[in-house]
Amino acid sequence: MLSADKTAKIIDGKAIAAQIRAEAARDAAAIAAKRGFPPGLAVVLVGEDPASVSYVTAKERACAECGIRSFPVRLPASASQDAVLAEVARLRADAAVDGILVQLPLPRQIDERRVVEAISPDKDVDGFHPVSVGNLALGLPGFAPCTPAGIIELLLRSGCDPTGKHAVVVGRSNIVGKPVAIMLSRKGRGGNATVTLCHTGTPDLGRFTRDADVLVVAAGRPGTVGEGMVKEGAVVIDVGVNRIADPSKKRGYRLVGDVDFAAVSRVASAITPVPGGVGPMTIAMLMANTVRAAAVHGPSAARP
Ligand code: GUN
Repeated sequence: MLSADKTAKIIDGKAIAAQIRAEAARDAAAIAAKRGFPPGLAVVLVGEDPASVSYVTAKERACAECGIRSFPVRLPASASQDAVLAEVARLRADAAVDGILVQLPLPRQIDERRVVEAISPDKDVDGFHPVSVGNLALGLPGFAPCTPAGIIELLLRSGCDPTGKHAVVVGRSNIVGKPVAIMLSRKGRGGNATVTLCHTGTPDLGRFTRDADVLVVAAGRPGTVGEGMVKEGAVVIDVGVNRIADPSKKRGYRLVGDVDFAAVSRVASAITPVPGGVGPMTIAMLMANTVRAAAVHGPSAARP
């Protein structure tokens, strides 16, 4: 039992992500030795949105650290849909490219759905293709999206196996909420939880969050889970990344999650911080997915 003054263990996403990148580096080296060339990841950025530029730079830096060859593709914000589709087709046919990542969001003139569907499922290391989503839902082999996969790894590697627990997910996005609910409920490693999926249509959110043994909050709104909404001893995963104006910071803002960290860490047994929790896991899992794609492709990653 936790005493009143006990604070939650902080789940160190930075350290766990570093561990996963080290494993990816080890496996990438083995693949390179076996087939004569390293795993390859194409990173497509259309336009110069500052947040996207920084994500893409971080992904390419992680590739270098893991011994994955990155293939940077940069297109202007004015690029046509055909130009983007032509790049994806070229990367799909390139045997040195095991994974293709198109950074989202795309400029308005481009139909995101069509671009994601142009990536062959065997190179879909982001796990956003409808075939990947279908495979995940059906329990078939395929790529799971990186943030949900990172959440499951965080839980397992910090000793919080979801098996037999009541997992409550807040948020039903295609990128996080929906897939993590599927992963927590499926049979097998990192799953076997009883899952409740809450969203903006859920009246009295606290009624559900208070019953969670594992609480995953991916609502995209600061303060979604606060005082009195968490059961003593629960494990809390905060997926939120929200910018709050803060004139005392050089860049003029600070990052906060969706959970009131100070209040909730007084009752939870473990909690992820923002930043340094889920965030670093997304890129680490992208590296892991790319290495897996390369292992499946073997000497040829070319697909028609
Ligand atoms: N934009 C925000 N998150 C992601 C992500 O995980 N993958 C891609 N491709 N774009 C994103």
